[in-house]
Amino acid sequence: MKLVVANESHFKYAQDICDTIEESAKVRGTGIAKRTPEYIQKKLQNGNAVIALDGEIFAGFCYIEVWGHGKYVANSGLIVHPNFRGQGLAKKIKQRVFDLSKEKFPDAKIFGITTGLAVMKINYELGYKPVTFSELTDDPEFWKGCQTCKNFDILTRTEQKLCLCTGMLHDPKAKPEVKKDKVNSKAFKRLRSIKESLFLKRKASPSPSQGGK
Ligand SMILES: CC(C)(COP(=O)(O)OP(=O)(O)OC[C@H]1O[C@@H](n2cnc3c(N)ncnc32)[C@H](O)[C@@H]1OP(=O)(O)O)[C@@H](O)C(=O)NCCC(=O)NCCS
Repeated sequence: MKLVVANESHFKYAQDICDTIEESAKVRGTGIAKRTPEYIQKKLQNGNAVIALDGEIFAGFCYIEVWGHGKYVANSGLIVHPNFRGQGLAKKIKQRVFDLSKEKFPDAKIFGITTGLAVMKINYELGYKPVTFSELTDDPEFWKGCQTCKNFDILTRTEQKLCLCTGMLHDPKAKPEVKKDKVNSKAFKRLRSIKESLFLKRKASPSPSQGGK
């Protein structure tokens, strides 16, 4: 398995990446911000993405988005192909894209929004902290991306103060923590369930509401 900073030679994988993101969201019955192959290709072209390849086969992907004139960057669109899950690949991709973000945008705060426990765990171990949405970028273009998520009405109802996603932020200026414990999965699941009962009219499946970028 090789993990590389993507470039134009990886354009051929853009459709596959979009299809895998969309298929995974369908399988989970989740909300997700939609991406087009053209958008993904822009990320590949700018050197703002990491791709994992098993030989010539696409295995995983994540990209960097720049917001608020470079004050913030988001590591978004994390996807691992179903054939390669459960082997620590997402963790490796996230670490690589996190390092790339710090290299290219050393002063930027790095953030993400997610309902996924896996992403929450990985971010937490990288030093992200859960924060309110008011601590994230107020760049309207970022929040516009949520329009394609099925939970967008919640974000609108709360005037962008909260949604089912949890905001997580890494501030390069914050003091590094000495103790590195793991994310409290039980508390996170409880919080998600409270948010779902507050904001969703009814549950259609055991986990109908996940979203994220
Ligand atoms: C979420 C996803 C990226 C995880 O990929 P992966 O390569 O299987 O993850 P890893 O093997 O690196 O696991 C990282 C951690 O998350 C945990 N994890 C993985 N999948 C999980 C799941 N579905 N639920 C809860 N925890 C999970 C792992 O146990 C591991 O935790 P640990 O360090 O405590 O052992 C992959 O399942 C995926 O692409 N899903 C669809 C897209 C998606 O949800 N993207 C995130 C949008 S915000």
